[in-house]
Amino acid sequence: MKDNARVTVDFNYMMEKSLGSKGIKDCELNALAPKAAEAFEYVKKNRGRDDLFMGWTELPYNQNEIISDILETAEKIRKKFKYFVVLGIGGSALGPIMVFNALKHLHYNELPEEKRGGPKFYVEDNVDPVRMQALLDVIEPEKTCFNVISKSGATSETMAQYLIIADVLKKKGVFLPDNVIFTTDASRGNLIKIDQSFGGKIKKYVLPDGVGGRFSEMCPVGLLPAAVLGIDVKEMLAGAAYMDKLCSGKSIENNPALACAVLQYITMKQGKNINVLMPYSDNLKLMADWYCQLWAESLGKAVDYDGNTVNAGTTPVKSLGVTDQHSQVQLYIEGPYDKIITFISVEKYACEMPIAHGCEDIPDVGFLGGHTMQELIQAENKATAYALMRAGRMNYTIKMPEVTAHTLGQLMYMLELQTAYAGALLNIDTYNQPGVENGKKATFALLGKKGYEEQKKEMDSAPALDNRYIV
Ligand code: PA5
Repeated sequence: MKDNARVTVDFNYMMEKSLGSKGIKDCELNALAPKAAEAFEYVKKNRGRDDLFMGWTELPYNQNEIISDILETAEKIRKKFKYFVVLGIGGSALGPIMVFNALKHLHYNELPEEKRGGPKFYVEDNVDPVRMQALLDVIEPEKTCFNVISKSGATSETMAQYLIIADVLKKKGVFLPDNVIFTTDASRGNLIKIDQSFGGKIKKYVLPDGVGGRFSEMCPVGLLPAAVLGIDVKEMLAGAAYMDKLCSGKSIENNPALACAVLQYITMKQGKNINVLMPYSDNLKLMADWYCQLWAESLGKAVDYDGNTVNAGTTPVKSLGVTDQHSQVQLYIEGPYDKIITFISVEKYACEMPIAHGCEDIPDVGFLGGHTMQELIQAENKATAYALMRAGRMNYTIKMPEVTAHTLGQLMYMLELQTAYAGALLNIDTYNQPGVENGKKATFALLGKKGYEEQKKEMDSAPALDNRYIV
């Protein structure tokens, strides 16, 4: 691996040297070194443990066998189907759509077939009826491969989508196993039962036992959709493994993920409770969505491992450079000191776009001619980081040499490790999501699912709404 293909982190603008009294002192970093080493050891010691939901750490190494099968299936799908639709939500959707956005043409579905080289691609992660209808308006169900992704097979959103699609296929006279693939738990869950009702004929991929949804992009959840798109999934996993090696040190000088976790932890302790991720790349726009789920669901926890009420976590915010310079950056520079901004910069964009000469007599416009869009976006990225620093606002930059399957694998794995270290620093369970589960149960109750009668009663007897507060 050439060093120039390596994702790096520059946190100069977090430090006292740049920010004066608003910055972090070297002695503060040094004081945290033992705690950081402990967090590192915790993650290292528990790598791959299914019972702790840490199976994700090994995905860059243990997916080889399944990849041959995935590549073979993907090839068949590319030949046979005009459309590929992912039905899933949360961890089952954000990874596939993020990788699609990062590595494929930004108007992929609008490209002519010969330029696309594969089926049109959709990820349906909501139960908005308008969106479902919109999908049905643009696909031909009999020419569509539906990948239903759900670990539990009990997520109302995904299963509602499944029921609608199953009915549509039936009405078209399509034998469901010909057009549907399940990605789910190895042996439990409703998708297994559904498959049994079709005589075990539905093609299935396993979402491994010890891997939670938000850490699942590097197993069949993400690998099958990516392979269908013709993305080099082996390179993606190689990038993740490479980052794993770069993060094998227990001090922040030789572990970029640990460095980011420590920076986030320090700012959390200072009461900065907003964590903005701002990629300067349209290809990485959805990386911010993926990261928001990873961070929010992993770290937003009421109690720590010792049973103390901690209400941990910082609020992740997605932002896009340069677009949000004209929307949010004013607040970042002059609003409350409650944020830390992480930029993702790209050194070489997938293509170059020269800015033509013109309007020489209008200096406000003419100066742009002869530059390139890459120069402009990079200058705006540097200028925003600099302006924030000058205003005493903490920010750091993750540098991507270019956006490739390899660097994307590096970035994903680094952010996953950062989240794991941050959870260990906070002494919380990074891998559960009791809050989400409670919402799921309340939905079951409202829709009359058997077994949730008590909860329904409780919800019905909640204090009556007061009409004065409805305007
Ligand atoms: O990260 C997670 O665990 C969640 O976001 C899940 O992925 C999401 O709730 C969907 O669950 P399931 O895969 O069981 O349908």
